Amino acid sequence: MERSTFLKSLAGVGATTIGLGSLSSFKSDINTINPDLMPAHITGLIPDFAKVRDDFPRVKQEIYMDNASTHPTNIYTSSAVHRITEWTKNDVGSPWWPAWADSKQECKNRFAQLINADPGEIAFARSTITSENDMLNGMDLTGGNVVLTDLHYSESIYGYKMRELRDGLKLNIFKTKDWQYTAKDLEPLVNKKTKLIAITLVSNVNGFLVKDVKAISDLAHANGAILYADIIQGVGAVPVDVKAMGIDVAACSTFKWLQGGGKGFGFFYVRKDLQDTVVRPSHLDGGIAFNYAPWVEKPDSSRDEIIFSPQKGPSMYEVSYPNYEGVIGALESIKYINALGITNIRNHARQLTDRLAKEMPRLGYPSITPEGNESPIMSFICKNPAEAMRKLESAKIHVAMRFGNKMRISPSVFNNLADVDRLLEVLS
Ligand SMILES: Cc1ncc(COP(=O)(O)O)c(C=O)c1O
Repeated sequence: MERSTFLKSLAGVGATTIGLGSLSSFKSDINTINPDLMPAHITGLIPDFAKVRDDFPRVKQEIYMDNASTHPTNIYTSSAVHRITEWTKNDVGSPWWPAWADSKQECKNRFAQLINADPGEIAFARSTITSENDMLNGMDLTGGNVVLTDLHYSESIYGYKMRELRDGLKLNIFKTKDWQYTAKDLEPLVNKKTKLIAITLVSNVNGFLVKDVKAISDLAHANGAILYADIIQGVGAVPVDVKAMGIDVAACSTFKWLQGGGKGFGFFYVRKDLQDTVVRPSHLDGGIAFNYAPWVEKPDSSRDEIIFSPQKGPSMYEVSYPNYEGVIGALESIKYINALGITNIRNHARQLTDRLAKEMPRLGYPSITPEGNESPIMSFICKNPAEAMRKLESAKIHVAMRFGNKMRISPSVFNNLADVDRLLEVLS
């Protein structure tokens, strides 16, 4: 079916058809939202953040400031994803997805643009950790070491510890003392045997945004190593420029600041000259053709009996089909984020975190996020974590308590100062 015919066929499709009857506010959105048009309140020079709030029905249920765990989707993304689930219900058939092929490439193009990469450097991925593992499995780490920090995502550090245990990989892990680090801190851990420095651009623990990524990259390169960055807590919320920052390999899923919805879909960036050289594909997947009878009537004698050609470009890192709902959700969300503009998103979140940074310590919750940090994630030490969470829950305020007593607050585009003030009031 042609895409245009298909889109028309969706007219009149309601949320009840996908069993969302209980979410009444969402039901009406689905019928009225056109995901092909970005709304006027985000396309102007200065977005109207009061109206942005209406794009996220989640705000009607509670004060949600746990976007570093999972970001709610906006109504345009939900609508676009709804569209593809309708397609899978009614029209699915061609496994290679011709009706949506353009969206697939557009999704990669837009993500590439968001991080200043070339589309030829972007593969679809299953998740951040999967991609980091794919990179590690595709590298020759024999006899080398890897430099990490304790602010790298802890589930990823598990993978390095397993490689240490199984393969004797040497790990040099920098232990942060004040919840931050610089290239200078890593210098003593890096040597000519270092194959990789792995960082988390924005920490899920305290939101620490690595300031001197380029200096860390220079340090890696001067020693013949590469720089990997887990960018899941950054992209969509803070500017990410892989070229200016000297990031060689990066990965993220879309369910956090990319607002893409479902888990299990993301992006894997591999610098062009590292593809199939320093980072070889670790899952081997592609097509072949048999060039002999009875497969073909007239075998081509100039060709091999089993014809295959190794994948070129970033698709060498992809296995089978991408998650189509993931692609569509990400594409729509990136359009939304681009329309808002990363600078506007930052400026909006900064006023919220600035107030938290000023007021929370006064209320007896010291911050473990460095002063002047440029990300929307802040963490505070709680004397009585259970009591604080009980109070917040009964006031319908949703934040995260992590690592025992660290309250992580991560406001986004749909939050406002009234949300922050209400949280302060409840905690005071
Ligand atoms: C910094 C960081 N990296 C990785 C992940 C996991 O991501 P994924 O599910 O894409 O592997 C998370 C999730 O919380 C995270 O905060």
